[in-house]
Amino acid sequence: MKTFESCFGKLAYESMAHVFHFKCEQGMELSISNYGATITALRIPDREGKLIDIVAGFDNLKDYQNSDFYFGASIGRYANRIANGSFTIDGKTYQLEKNEKRTQLHGGEDGFHRKLWDATLFKNPDNTILKLQYLSPDQEAGFPGNLKATITFTIWDTNSFAIDYEAETDQATHVNFSNHSYFNLSGFTEDAGSHELAVDAFGYLELNSNQLPTGKMIETPGTVFDFYKLTLLSERNIPNNYPLDYCFVIDKTDSSKDPDAILYHPKTGIKLRIFTTQPGIQVYSSNFLDGSMTGHQGVSYQKHSAICLETQHFPDSPNQPEFPSTLLLPGEKYHQQTRYFFETN
Ligand code: GAL
Repeated sequence: MKTFESCFGKLAYESMAHVFHFKCEQGMELSISNYGATITALRIPDREGKLIDIVAGFDNLKDYQNSDFYFGASIGRYANRIANGSFTIDGKTYQLEKNEKRTQLHGGEDGFHRKLWDATLFKNPDNTILKLQYLSPDQEAGFPGNLKATITFTIWDTNSFAIDYEAETDQATHVNFSNHSYFNLSGFTEDAGSHELAVDAFGYLELNSNQLPTGKMIETPGTVFDFYKLTLLSERNIPNNYPLDYCFVIDKTDSSKDPDAILYHPKTGIKLRIFTTQPGIQVYSSNFLDGSMTGHQGVSYQKHSAICLETQHFPDSPNQPEFPSTLLLPGEKYHQQTRYFFETN
């Protein structure tokens, strides 16, 4: 694997953001910045061997700083929404910073996606590792506890990579990390509807009008949201009449080695298989993109032009006692992993 580093741009206090580029033997090219622990570019060969840009991203730091779309970013401390931007632990209520009218979204205005992470590179015989670390101080965005966060990207020459999310705290707190890559396996020549999607999920979480879970899971078998088998999204009239922005409940009882999600583009032949330890996956068909941002190769990112597959714990878990817990206590280690495998067929 070839690896090189380039400067991305200057932040406040003269600190410099970098991008780490990985060129794999089987063709994958992955770029990751320590600004936001962000996947800034991902290229995969199509059937003809031509490299296709399969994630939304920008070539310069300024555009990331000016964008509210979280392109490729690591999300924390808490991915997705927390009702009223608040939760209670041991009788003490914490008011988080709100960045939507009634909620906190993706860790607040200045969440992990806007932090500069310390980067260390390890070159091993079998893989290359980029370890990114950030110490989130007590009360940052309102969250309790000094939180030591580590996000590790492990990259293999076989067109695959893993993201490991780890954290430790010195006070009880809630954590839920994710990655917010916008995938388009046609290279943004066709929209989300041209993709085939499979999600190994038996339900999705019902939402209220503030896009917060009601606590109820709706079963998917036999409905338009049944994705047990690879399904062409346009055939289901998704994303036009059924724009996707739901947390699917991954079938953890399924002991098969099947992926938790698959995204495929019939024209380029590019297939992404995702495996995760997380209980949920937010499938989001870029409903809020509006063509206002232009990225790699002059592409303007339009509504429904990509699919995000954000593996995560369930939204608003701190306020939903029936959901799997996101509480992290001092002395405990938070660890989640998501693996991404690409092939072309
Ligand atoms: C997604 C979320 C959407 C929207 C988007 C950012 O994770 O599900 O509702 O907030 O992030 O624009």
